[in-house]
Amino acid sequence: MRILGIESSCDETAIGIVEDGRKLLSNVVSSQVEIHARYGGIVPEVASRQHVLAILPIYHQALELARTRPQDLDAIAVTNGPGLAGSLLVGLNFAKGLALSLGMPLLGMNHMEGHIYAFWLEDAPDPSKEPGFPLIILLASGGHTELVLMSNHGQYRLLGKTRDDSAGEAFDKAARLLGLGFPGGPEIQRAAAGAKSSEPFTPPMLHEGGLDFSFSGLKTALVRRVQDTPVPVVGPFAAGFQRSVVEVLVTKTLQAVGIHGARGVILGGGVAANSLLREQMQARAPVPVLLPRPGLCTDNGAMVAAAAAFRYGSALPRTGYGLDLDAIPSLKIDDVPGGYQTLRT
Ligand code: KG4
Ligand code: ZN
Repeated sequence: MRILGIESSCDETAIGIVEDGRKLLSNVVSSQVEIHARYGGIVPEVASRQHVLAILPIYHQALELARTRPQDLDAIAVTNGPGLAGSLLVGLNFAKGLALSLGMPLLGMNHMEGHIYAFWLEDAPDPSKEPGFPLIILLASGGHTELVLMSNHGQYRLLGKTRDDSAGEAFDKAARLLGLGFPGGPEIQRAAAGAKSSEPFTPPMLHEGGLDFSFSGLKTALVRRVQDTPVPVVGPFAAGFQRSVVEVLVTKTLQAVGIHGARGVILGGGVAANSLLREQMQARAPVPVLLPRPGLCTDNGAMVAAAAAFRYGSALPRTGYGLDLDAIPSLKIDDVPGGYQTLRT
């Protein structure tokens, strides 16, 4: 079963083709980073216009790389939330046009669920490596920071989330403050890697707030520290900031593992590409830590196709299904109570 997945919820226009939920046939991502870098953050109107320009060439490239003809596909999957309304609409309308013209079902997918399924994507799939449930999922991206209990495929319970900024947003703002580029996560990681020392920052809300997070105070602490330091040295500030974010992400994830007796941890979302986070989680978790390849942590279309394959299995809905789908900018990970069995029937 071949599913084409479309992702346009934020600033990446991306299309991937996946066979049987795991095998990555192609994954083409067109990032708008350079355009938004000028503004130090994503400008929604600019993002949707760029999606319009990028999406058709990317579709052709994804088919070509996967050596797949459109009629060899079985379904079209598309992110219909959460995300920026204008950006979501571009992918969704393109997907509707494709599904209609090819006579295929259209599967609306939750972007954050796509991030979870990035872990399942491989070049050479081995279904025997299926992790047991329950799993604790840490989703940390530019728009979200969430801890989710995954009790089976498609069954999620939100355990905690950020009360203000997301972890990715914190990295982006910190980088901007330190005069580094956008997106901030990789820039902070690079600056921290070259630093000989680390400026200490207290990890925010480490021992309060249950499994919720908060990152805006840490950003303010950085602003103050930079203002109070005659000649702020970027490396040590970046290293300390990164250490503090990672400490709170790891500590709360492991708390969730203990509370729910989880058998493993999955990381997902752009921040999951962070090497300190990956190292620390693996070093400290008492259970296996399942990591998507760094290149699959950030937004891509293959993860959307993979999530769709696990959601629908071989029971794909009929042709014409999904053509009435809407963009839902605030879609939640647990918006399908009872799991996907309810969707299939
Ligand atoms: O999942 P994603 O690609 O887009 C959203 O769904 O938001 O995540 C983007 C976020 C950005 O905030 C970026 O700074 C962060 O992920 N990010 C990282 C790293 N790579 C990307 N943060 C920390 N370390 C990284 N290596
Ligand atoms: Zn994302």
